Amino acid sequence: MSLIETIFPSANEVPSTWQLEAFIEQRAYLINGELHNWNGPMNEVISPVSLVKDGKLVPNSIGSTPLLTEKESLEALDAAVAAYNNGTGEWPTMAITDRIAHVERFLVEMKKQRNAVVKLLMWEIGKVLPDSEKEFDRTCLYMEDTIRELKNMDRRNAKFENEEGIIAQIRRVPLGVALCMGPYNYPLNETFSTLIPALIMGNTVVFKPAKYGVLLIQPLLEAFKNCFPKGVINIIYGRGRETVGVMMESGKIDVFAFIGTNKGASDIKKLHPKPHRLRSVLGLDAKNPAIILPDADLDIAVAEAVAGSLSFNGQRCTALKIIFVHESLISAFLPKFTAAVNQLAIGMPWDKGAKITPLPEPGKAAYLTALVKDAQQFGAEIVNENGGLVNDTFFYPAVLYPVNNKMRIYSEEQFGPVVPIVSYKDIAETVDYVVQSNFGQQLSIFGKNSATIGHLIDELANQVGRININAQCQRGPDMYPFNGRKDSAEGTLSVADALRAFSIRLLISTKDNELNKEIVQTIVREHQSNYLRLDYIF
Ligand code: G3H
Repeated sequence: MSLIETIFPSANEVPSTWQLEAFIEQRAYLINGELHNWNGPMNEVISPVSLVKDGKLVPNSIGSTPLLTEKESLEALDAAVAAYNNGTGEWPTMAITDRIAHVERFLVEMKKQRNAVVKLLMWEIGKVLPDSEKEFDRTCLYMEDTIRELKNMDRRNAKFENEEGIIAQIRRVPLGVALCMGPYNYPLNETFSTLIPALIMGNTVVFKPAKYGVLLIQPLLEAFKNCFPKGVINIIYGRGRETVGVMMESGKIDVFAFIGTNKGASDIKKLHPKPHRLRSVLGLDAKNPAIILPDADLDIAVAEAVAGSLSFNGQRCTALKIIFVHESLISAFLPKFTAAVNQLAIGMPWDKGAKITPLPEPGKAAYLTALVKDAQQFGAEIVNENGGLVNDTFFYPAVLYPVNNKMRIYSEEQFGPVVPIVSYKDIAETVDYVVQSNFGQQLSIFGKNSATIGHLIDELANQVGRININAQCQRGPDMYPFNGRKDSAEGTLSVADALRAFSIRLLISTKDNELNKEIVQTIVREHQSNYLRLDYIF
């Protein structure tokens, strides 16, 4: 029997540290500083990790979450609107040092839940243990960096300008009520990379967890409740159709932070009655290509392309989703690449060294199989051993070659472990691919000749948000800007950029004369304003 057929464990084969004690019936949701208990219909959470029971593989139901209705989502929105209170609420007007103190308290509480969250990341989305730990730690670091950056920003603004006889102070203030929705592949990190900047800048928030990776928010609910004033953060659960639409239609959402598909984002944005009043911060689809030039170092190119296309089973928005290899290298590249794919250990998220794990989306293996069949019909072959083998929620990576533009996989984002490889003759073919693509997040160039790379950078610089040289595509380090063109993103996120995305500049100005200078000086000296001030945050 192959490893794939026996990949799933029985309940008692799961290491005791990672066993779930019981079914998690998560009925709590947070509105206006209160944890409510939902008595209505629930959504079942099925783990991608199926279990063997009496010799048969059975779906593994690990918990359930509330299916709230329009009513509760409007209550959450009302709570956020009331806490913002047209910008006069306690939270938006609070001194920055005090807002920071709330977030710091939350961070202390959050860190206590590391084990619980990591365990649920593995069970809910099948992310391997080291990556689950990394997601948690990276999120904590992101919060620490955000606090540091906010202090820096505040210090830079602690001064007066004087231009053309107008004295001014420029600060950043919140936008209003933010709706934050994250993706299932980074349900903690990507969600918090909008949620925390939104909060710390003084916005009030309605947060709806991702489609999968929902239970893992539960260990943090108490901390959210205890660390923020009522109504500042509201957490709801349920289907997007029922919960999000009605909030957007109300016109009371000022910022829409969403990581998901461009279609989903457009459908929701359209519902806002005054679109010009809605700021959107979107991380969307991508089809990042790797371009392997004739003189590329094959060891580097293969190592980066394997990690780039298959880490977390290819379920990263930044994953390399198509690989262009110069025809002169194809015969050397393919065996090296497939050999490296063969080396990737398969297993359960907690298995030591496991790289390829079961997939959380229902029907995903069938979708990927259909993509492979479509490619085969137009002449591609699966060039790696076991490629495309399926066992329940597990799909063994399929490397497809030769791929051409008739195939769906050429332009469709697979978001899974299928790696299409295209052989190209002329570099213009790769440039044309990038230019014609609906997406424009990142790309990777592999090669040694600086003149060729420099020229290619210049051709592609206005197509994507990031060009990686001899390295896979990636979001981090989080201090760097993360964005995209075309259907791939709206706005830029980095630790510093996110603070700007969730705020707007406020200019307080006056004509340069004795009366006005005295007024301004007195306000500052007597601490008469939270906004017009010169204090320095250490
Ligand atoms: O899914 C998209 C993530 O932002 C990718 O982040 O490149 O650090 O895996 P990453």
